[in-house]
Amino acid sequence: MANVLKKHFKNKKVLITGNTGFKGSWLSFWLQRSGAEVMGISLNEISQPSFFKALNLKKRIKYKQIDIRNLKLIRSTMQKFQPDYIFHLAADAIVKNAYKNPKKAWETNTLGTINILESLKKFKKNVVAVLITSDKVYKNLEINRGYSENDILGGYDPYSASKASADLAIQSYFHSYLKKKKNLKICIARAGNVIGGGDWAEGRIIPDCVKKWSKFRSVKIRNPISTRPWQHVLDVLYGYIILGIKMKKNTSLNGEAFNFGPKRQNKKTVIEVVKEMQKNWKKSKWKITKNKKFNESNLLQLNSFKAKSKLKWHCNLSFEKAISFTVEWYKTFYFNRKNILALTSNQIQSYEKLTLKKFKL
Ligand SMILES: NC(=O)c1ccc[n+]([C@@H]2O[C@H](COP(=O)([O-])OP(=O)(O)OC[C@H]3O[C@@H](n4cnc5c(N)ncnc54)[C@H](O)[C@@H]3O)[C@@H](O)[C@H]2O)c1
Repeated sequence: MANVLKKHFKNKKVLITGNTGFKGSWLSFWLQRSGAEVMGISLNEISQPSFFKALNLKKRIKYKQIDIRNLKLIRSTMQKFQPDYIFHLAADAIVKNAYKNPKKAWETNTLGTINILESLKKFKKNVVAVLITSDKVYKNLEINRGYSENDILGGYDPYSASKASADLAIQSYFHSYLKKKKNLKICIARAGNVIGGGDWAEGRIIPDCVKKWSKFRSVKIRNPISTRPWQHVLDVLYGYIILGIKMKKNTSLNGEAFNFGPKRQNKKTVIEVVKEMQKNWKKSKWKITKNKKFNESNLLQLNSFKAKSKLKWHCNLSFEKAISFTVEWYKTFYFNRKNILALTSNQIQSYEKLTLKKFKL
């Protein structure tokens, strides 16, 4: 796949919003090592530590600290850089934070996305834009089947609702303005809970474990039987990347939304995740404590049949492999940091080899 990605991205200009975040950092690194000229747009609120800093990405890509809520700056940056691809990931991505400051979440997630769409209205160069929303955009109907792309959108908590509104705004702009523009192809990518090395967000189980375990302390687990689908960040980013590549050639994908969900067997409880991590991280302890409850959509499963049939995408990493990749990354970061760049490259390379065996792009 490395050569295949080089074929598509070498010397291409790629604009990534949210490039200092968990997914945005991995995507920046992956596309930069595939020959792309990457420009990132983010706030300077970087987690401590962060993947962005650990890999010194500031040296590898162009990086501008711009607020996605600032239309004027977003538009002028896009005009100046003239991207061939845009991946829009910038968001207030933590449910708990969106609860604390809903106005900021709506402005960032919904109006921030509208600013990208407004900027695209005036853009003249050929460009493919992959706009990232979430599995939480679906109205939770308490059903057992996975949600498909044409299911109804909605959400009660501020994060879900602001991402669902962003998704609706994309659809509205596409049908009202952008569909007619021959130079432009846009699509929506919806994925769920993602794991992998380099995430240090507050209140997520894997970062919570590694922060404590790296100091040989015990981790408190608040929702041991809460079930989530677990999916490695490389699997999801691979979905975004092939969506971008295929859209370039296939006009029938323009304006479409795609789900990128894990396999059913990757649905596990929090405690199953912790136990799987323990297999790879010896000397790890945990205890269960009571949780302060705030409402978050219950488990939403995605039906990814459309991505499988139209993009030939599916999750390549088993639950066990996704966890072992993740633990390997954090252990290297905490105990052998000088090797973190090489390890990250190796993980991407192994993923590419695995994927190349199965798919042709
Ligand atoms: N991580 C997950 O499990 C998950 C699940 C579903 C959907 N998503 C979506 O994927 C995308 C990336 O998620 P992540 O986990 O990497 O998030 P993250 O919190 O790690 O990173 C968010 C990024 O957005 C940037 N950002 C936030 N507010 C901004 C603003 N006002 N202006 C400019 N930049 C701003 C941050 O600086 C950071 O670079 C988001 O759109 C998120 O909603 C993530």
